[in-house]
Amino acid sequence: MVMSRFTNLIDLDDMSSDWWLDVVKLASDICDDPAKYAKACEGKIMATLFYEPSTRTQMSFQTAMLRLGGTIIGFDNPATSSVAKGENLKDTTKIVSSYADIMVMRHPSEGAAKAAALTADCPIINAGDGSHLHPSQTLLDMLTLYREKGRLENMTIGLCGDLKNGRTVHSMCKALSNFKGIKFVFISTKELGMPSYIKDILTARNCEFIENPSLEDAIGGLDMLYMTRVQKERFSSEEEYNKLKDAYILDKKKLSRAKSDCIVLHPLPRVDEITMDVDDDPRAMYFKQAKYGMFARMAIILTILRSPAEIKPLLIGSTFPSVCCTNPNCITHKEYYLPRSFRAVGDMLECEYCDERRLGI
Ligand code: NCD
Repeated sequence: MVMSRFTNLIDLDDMSSDWWLDVVKLASDICDDPAKYAKACEGKIMATLFYEPSTRTQMSFQTAMLRLGGTIIGFDNPATSSVAKGENLKDTTKIVSSYADIMVMRHPSEGAAKAAALTADCPIINAGDGSHLHPSQTLLDMLTLYREKGRLENMTIGLCGDLKNGRTVHSMCKALSNFKGIKFVFISTKELGMPSYIKDILTARNCEFIENPSLEDAIGGLDMLYMTRVQKERFSSEEEYNKLKDAYILDKKKLSRAKSDCIVLHPLPRVDEITMDVDDDPRAMYFKQAKYGMFARMAIILTILRSPAEIKPLLIGSTFPSVCCTNPNCITHKEYYLPRSFRAVGDMLECEYCDERRLGI
């Protein structure tokens, strides 16, 4: 078993639902009185390593730390760092984590945050690893629900758009499926459908979900509609992307079929999937949601930095040096030194970095 000395935020599943609720409640308290926390992280340094583009996640993490009285270092373009000289992930993150007290990382490969945590000298927050997970986004989505709906239970949630490649919806399903009375409606084309490993998790937790490719049809039954962008950067060809990019567009007419208290969320950036005339509808919550992101991230940073030292498992499975993960975008295909670690699930092996399952050996 490989252990970590730190409380990392790599996958919300590593924490209890009480932990998430405490973060959401702290974030809500910060929203009400941010000045109370203005010196909470004085003297602390946060590093942001963004190997992939970002506006909200990066800037909201940075402003979060600045609003807590801490300072920030980092890069948002690996081309201007030693990554461009061919430095591997281990060396970059090892060094930066020895300069900082907490490190936030976004990377295009699935499992990158876990890979970095194996050798880092400070806690790591996963700010998005390929199509895999985006836990801090889910905490801010939960904060939005908590503040705007007053609950995290008993809700029908529509997830619409690119459910295959959208990491935000994967993290959301994994987290909200732990709450009572949550029902998901997956609104997507066949090509953009929810990965089967997420559906398996929901089934194992007795969380109800249905698939309905029609937004018009599904919208009337929802308490929250989560729109997502078709993730252009995850497609192998522009042609394939062009075929699917306009599959779902929420406009005023479609929204008129929604309940009067159905809120509309979107992690942003929006491309064309919500027309601008929806922005003025009181149910459109995505700009407010992005602002909640800053408060949620203040709560995440604070909670992690205040966590008592504790040894936590990072890799719990077994190493199979001759077995490759079948996900071509898994970090293990770029960083060859990583132990090829898998969990046994029935007769399958599940990669411990990206959760992809393959037949055992
Ligand atoms: C999302 C992401 O990066 O996964 N954006 C974000 O963090 N707010 C969604 C997206 O890029 O479509």
